[in-house]
Amino acid sequence: MQDLTPMSVSEQIEIRRLDAAEAHAQLDGLAAVLVDCVAGGASVSYLAPFSHEDARRAFEAVAAEVEQGSRLLLAAFADGDLVGTVQVILALPPNQPHRGEIAKLLVHRAARRRGVAQLLMGSAEAEARAEGKTLLVLDTVTGDNAERLYERLGWTRVGVIPGYALYPDGQPCDATVFWKSL
Ligand SMILES: CC(C)(COP(=O)(O)OP(=O)(O)OC[C@H]1O[C@@H](n2cnc3c(N)ncnc32)[C@H](O)[C@@H]1OP(=O)(O)O)[C@@H](O)C(=O)NCCC(=O)NCCS
Repeated sequence: MQDLTPMSVSEQIEIRRLDAAEAHAQLDGLAAVLVDCVAGGASVSYLAPFSHEDARRAFEAVAAEVEQGSRLLLAAFADGDLVGTVQVILALPPNQPHRGEIAKLLVHRAARRRGVAQLLMGSAEAEARAEGKTLLVLDTVTGDNAERLYERLGWTRVGVIPGYALYPDGQPCDATVFWKSL
């Protein structure tokens, strides 16, 4: 019988930090993951209807920030296919040079529950540390899969902000704020 422990599956997943050129080269793959997450109802900044072109434009803006050095972009590949991504916002006010923000942790629905997000977060934290960051913060939809993930990965839960954002269908959702020292 095939061994499906998280470790054996994770070995097939490659996490890479993308520079601006690679981000442009991977625009379609990144956009496909974002479109799939929004179609699945994830509250990740966008409202329905949300097209592949909308998502490409969103990642073109991210690639521009990667070029400027104000944002880190990582991608997860399974057998060469881009299946997940996460960003770290590096550019924060001058009195917070040690702080970064995690944004847009996204895993395609077809690739979930294989440890891809856990691997992406491990790499994001390592890359942020390498950039001199010692504190990370993030917010996530309260009661969603991601909340359990962050707790499992040692993030500290600050609290819940009611009605923080909207789901793609326009319904309000609460957000939970987390932080982690690196
Ligand atoms: C939240 C999200 C990123 C998680 O991605 P993921 O790759 O499925 O996450 P992981 O696989 O690391 O962990 C998810 C679950 O799978 C389990 N798992 C991990 N590897 C596994 C394996 N090999 N076999 C079975 N289960 C496994 C984990 O234990 C975890 O279980 P739990 O949810 O019951 O706690 C994904 O659901 C997503 O993209 N959601 C939409 C966007 C979103 O909400 N992003 C967060 C914004 S802050």
